[in-house]
Formats: sequence, structure tokens, C-alpha cells
Amino acid sequence: MRGISIFLSAVFLLSACVPEKTKVDELMSQMTLEEKLGQLNCLVAPRGAVTGEQQSTGVAEKVRSGAVGSLFGRHDRDELMAWQKMAVEESRLGIPLLFGADIIHGYRTTFPVPLALAATWNPESMERAARISTVEASSDGLTWLYNPMVDICRDPRWGRCVEGAGEDPYLASVYSETMVRGIQGDLKADDEILACVKHFALYGASEAGRDYRETDMSPARMYNEYFPPYKAAVDAGVASIMSSFNDVNGIPATGNRWLMTEVLRNQWGFDGFVVSDYNAVGEMVRHGIGDRKTVSELALNAGVDSDMMTEGFVGELAASVKEGRVSMKAVDQACRRVLEAKEKLGLLDDPYKFLRCEQNRIYTDEHRKAAREIAAESFVLLKNDGTLPLSKGKKVALVGPLADAGAQYTGSWQGAAYDDCRSLLAAMKEAGCDFVFAKGSNMLEDAELEQAACRNRKYVRDPRSESQMIREAVAAARQSDVVLAAVGEPAWMTGEASSRTSLDIPQPQKRLLEALVNTGRPVVLLLFSGRPMTLEWEDSNMAAILDVWYGGSEAADAILDVVYGRVNPSGKLTMTFPRNVGQIPLYYNMKNGGRPAKTDSYKRFSSCYMDSPNSPLYPFGYGLSYTTFEYTDFALSADAMPSDGSVTASVKVTNTGSRDADETVQLYIHDVYSSMTRPVKELKAFRKVRVKAGETVEVSFEITPDLLSWYYVDPFETGAPQLALEPGDFEIMVGPDSSTLQTLMLNVLE
Ligand code: BGC
Repeated sequence: MRGISIFLSAVFLLSACVPEKTKVDELMSQMTLEEKLGQLNCLVAPRGAVTGEQQSTGVAEKVRSGAVGSLFGRHDRDELMAWQKMAVEESRLGIPLLFGADIIHGYRTTFPVPLALAATWNPESMERAARISTVEASSDGLTWLYNPMVDICRDPRWGRCVEGAGEDPYLASVYSETMVRGIQGDLKADDEILACVKHFALYGASEAGRDYRETDMSPARMYNEYFPPYKAAVDAGVASIMSSFNDVNGIPATGNRWLMTEVLRNQWGFDGFVVSDYNAVGEMVRHGIGDRKTVSELALNAGVDSDMMTEGFVGELAASVKEGRVSMKAVDQACRRVLEAKEKLGLLDDPYKFLRCEQNRIYTDEHRKAAREIAAESFVLLKNDGTLPLSKGKKVALVGPLADAGAQYTGSWQGAAYDDCRSLLAAMKEAGCDFVFAKGSNMLEDAELEQAACRNRKYVRDPRSESQMIREAVAAARQSDVVLAAVGEPAWMTGEASSRTSLDIPQPQKRLLEALVNTGRPVVLLLFSGRPMTLEWEDSNMAAILDVWYGGSEAADAILDVVYGRVNPSGKLTMTFPRNVGQIPLYYNMKNGGRPAKTDSYKRFSSCYMDSPNSPLYPFGYGLSYTTFEYTDFALSADAMPSDGSVTASVKVTNTGSRDADETVQLYIHDVYSSMTRPVKELKAFRKVRVKAGETVEVSFEITPDLLSWYYVDPFETGAPQLALEPGDFEIMVGPDSSTLQTLMLNVLE
């Protein structure tokens, strides 16, 4: 009897130890090598999978034969349904497809571009935007968003800075984890789908701000300044990561085993899948690494699981496995990761889960209301002599080529239908404002470039001469009390492949501004931009400057909300605005060096320019309000703390004006003496608070060891760098922006 019970318990124990076969295991046990490689293949879905004609495209044949794991770039639910049916009903194993898309700042309801969304300094607004975008996108059948982009960027010449959260590792990390949460939730509901953090890694440091160029960087800078937002996404459970186009210290990121396996998986514990950027595997041929077979092997062996658009994995790797250049284990691992993502989504149980939404969840009144509020919150008031907000009684001259170009207001990665984006002109008409309109100039000097930058978004170049258009605008200004000048960059003057060497407002528009200033009327500059611009002349000559970025589908109404004072602006910059291009790269968290310049005037043998101050025009974290704030009673709960302890920093913020407002209180630290050189200040926390007119709010921050820690990375030593705190003195700073700070000293004991 006793023997039997021992035997039964042993059987029980054994069966408890053997993990149950999952759906992924079952599938994998039936898959051929070619089918496994097929799961790694990610292709653009050609237009219209619905009709017979379109189904005969090469992609359809590949889907039927199990040679495609995911499709991207199509948004139409009927089309996606047709593709899914094809995969499920016509391929041998019926494995459903993932449907990816670049839903970057909104699906049809479009939110401000990421650089602007980050300028809200409000994680709730970021999450709300991400959630709504995902609800809309998933209700049309999408299951995988190529979002968020979190490449730190300190060079505004690089057009893609518009897609990220700016120059700061901490703010970008908050943005990164918040977006992942907003997109993925816990990946259970039918509106929670895969996020994809990109572009891993260091793409924002492309040399000279030119897209697709190389990156060369010390590991200490990587770990402390450029890696944190990618890591924040991993810590938040991001399901996928996209490799970047650039090389990193000589090895293309897409074939870089140190990045894709050592850092990402071994050090950070990432357990999702890595997709290459668009043809990034194939582009390693032009990087000079080898032919298509060599680079495909390199990418898979490095840790890239899915190949977007090269078809190198599906085309080359079966032979490589046979030749022993790629192991079956590596193919299995990549295939498993892609299948696990499908399983997490619930697609292996229900391939049509995201394709049967019955409610209208797209472009609803509620979503549009959110987009309008968030757009208004993202605008940054850079200058104001009191002209803003306008009172209703003022007669306005609305001028500028962006005043009647609503389709440009979404910036790059268009979500909204062009007709959804009301222009300022239309919004002012509808609101019954007292105004006259004159276009005043074309967008750019060069007609061909203008077409490219406007991407034909219904923008028609005005055939009239420049002088005629300016004359008309000047006449409009003369009849008015104030000028609203809607000028700046058309939508695709920032974004991918949109690098610039000048950051001036394009010349025809600048000449228009000069003519308007000469009328003596106050000119309010409504700046459309996706990057920091050089605005020294504007700062001296405009009555007010409001950076409205690309505010999305509801931008026009949001702009009027701020211009007429229904909303008090609260956005703050997330990238430094230089005075001139020669200062670039210019960022607030720089180091002191051994001969720092103490003032902005030239001093020989100190670190400065002969022909320009060092200081920016507008610093990181800067943004005005229609009210004023006073910061008082900055205090630390103790001036010393043990290295495993904490102290509280507090400050009182008083609204000394007459309007209620939101203020973002910022906390920076500086490690005074350390074994590696450290930045002069680093943002470590912030809080956005509502302060009513005349009232005072106390804001406090807990200063814990992690805020004071950093990675010591000696490039000549191996091993995973660890975050560590070096005891000693730290400057603790608070204030409204990175250059207006009060400082207290904190001593961290051994
Ligand atoms: C971009 C990615 C994008 C991909 C797919 C690439 O050119 O770099 O950001 O997700 O295309 O559209």
C-alpha cells in the first residue's frame, strides 16, 4: 500500500514538474523550417487584399504558403480581415498574422506630435493620448503599434526629433513607460495591443543631425544618457523593440549582438521580440558588412527576431541552417518569440479578436475633446509682452501660409483624414472672430521642395508674386489691432529624412514677418514646428511667440483656446532652443569641463565662442504662462542622509498673477565630486500642479538613492555596468525651468 502511494506521489510530482504544452509548443512541433522562418517575415501589406486582383499579388501567395508572420501599413478593417482569413484558412497551419502600423500620435483622432505631447509634462495626458490612439487603431483590427519612439536627441537638425520626447533621459523615460502602458495595458482586453519601442539604439545621435548616419558614443554616455528610455520601456513590459538604422561604434545596430542580446536580454531581461527597422537587415549590405546572406545571418545571430522588408531571413536562412552558420535553436527561439506575442494577444485562440469591433470607437466626440485639450496643453508660450491672450474685441489680421493649411497640422505620420483637420481660418470663421485674412507668402522658396515638405496635403502653391502677397498682408495688418502670423515648417519638414542645416523659419515667411513688423502692429507668432528653431530675431521683434508644434486634428480650436485665453498655456520645452546652428549640439545636461565659461561674454581660455553666447535662447524646461509664479521656502528635510536613506525637498509655489494656471515644478541634481565627470544638472523629478490665482501650493519630492545614482562605465573593463551612488555632496535644485533654479546642498554619508 505504502509503495503504491509513493509511486502515485512520484507520478504526481513528475507531472507537476513537466510544464504543460502550450499552443506555441504545439504549433512549433508541427512547423517546418520554412514555416518558422515565415513567422519572422514582416512585410508591407499591398493596397487592397480584398479583390481577386489584389489577392494575386506576391504577398498573398506568401501569406498562403506560411511565408509571412506579420503585415504592416494598411489600416482598413475589411482588408485586414481578408488578410487574416487568408492566413488562417488558407495556410497549412492557419497561424494568424500580426498587423502593424506607424500609429505615432493618433489614429484618426490625431494628437500633438510626440515632441509636443512630451511638452505637456503631463503623464496623464500622454497616457490618455496613447490609450485613445490604441482604442481607435485596435477597433480597425491593428494589433501592433510602432510606438513609442524614444531616441534621445540633442541635435534639432535631425528631423526625427519630432517623433521623440526630446533631449532628456528622465523625461523621455517617463514618456516611454507611460506610452507603453497606454498602448498595451495588460494585453488582455480587445483594445490592448503590442507596443514597439524604437529605434534601438542611439539613432537620435546620428552624426551632424543627418538621417541614417553613424553613431559613435562612449558606453558611459549610452548607459547614463541614451539607454534609459529604452530600458524604461523594457521595465514597463514592452512586447517588442525595433532595431535602428545606424551603426553603433562600427557595428550596425541591426547586426549588433552586444546591443540586441547582451544589453537587451542579458542585462535588462527583455523577453519580447525584436523587429528590424524597414530593410535595416538589407541595408547592412551598404554599410559594407557583407552580402544579403551574411547580413541576414548576422542579424538573426545578433538577436533580431523579425526581418522587416528585406526578406533575408525567409530567403536566405534555410540554407544557412543547413550549412551550420545559423543554428536551429536560434531560429526556434526567434519563431517562439513571435508566436508568443501572438499568444499574448489572444490571437492563437481567436484570430479575429480585433476584427469584430461593433461600436464606433473612431473619431468620437469624446476622443476629439481629449485631443483638443491635450493639444492646448502642449503649446509653449516662448514670449509674451502682454499681447496674449487676445480679448474678443480686438480686430485681428490672420496671415501666413499655415493659416489655411489644416492638413499640415498633424505633422509627419499622418493619422487623421485631411478633411478632419480644420484650419485656423475655418475655425476663426466658425467662431465668429472679427478678422481679415491674407496668406502673405508661400511656405518655401523652392516649389519642388515645398511639394515634398507638404506631401501634397491639399496644399496649393500660390501663383502670385511675393511682393503682391506681402502687400496684401501688410494692408490686412494695417486695418487691424493685432496680427496673428501662422508660419513655420510644413508637416514633412520634420520627420524621417527631413534634416536641415538651417533652423530658421523658411525665408519667404521670414520676409513676410519683417514686413508685418514694419507696420508697427503687434505681431503674434504662431509657430508650427517639429523641432527647436533659431528665433533670435523673432524674440526681439514679435509681441508674442506661441509654439503650436503640429497639434493634430483638433489643433485649430486648441490654438484659439489659448490665443483667446480660455486655456492658460502650460507647455514647457523638452529640447533646448539654440540661438544659432553653430551652438549645436546644445543641451542643458552638459558637463562643466575644466575651463567652464562663467558668463555669456567672451573670455579667452574659457570654454566659449567668440561670436555667440553659450546660453540657449530658450532653455530646456522653459515655457511661460498668462500668470506668474514665485518659488519660495525651498527646503530639505535634512542636509545629510545615509546612502540608503532619503530626504524630502519641498518648495512653495505661489501664483502671483490673476489667472488660475498649471505649473510644472522641476527638480534637478548635480553630483559635485565623482569618479567620472557628471553633468552640471540632471532632471530627476517633476510635478505638474494646478495653482489658483493668488494661491500657494507646496510641492515636495522624495530624494531617494536611485535619484542620485548613475552608471560608472569604464570602456576598457567588461561586465554589466551597475547603477551606484557615490557618497558625498550633491546639489539639489528646483525651479520652473533648467536655467532658473534655486540650489541647496545635500551631503550623502558613506
Ligand atoms: C522608420 C520606422 C518605421 C518603419 C515602418 C522606417 O523607415 O524608421 O520608424 O516604424 O519605417 O514604417
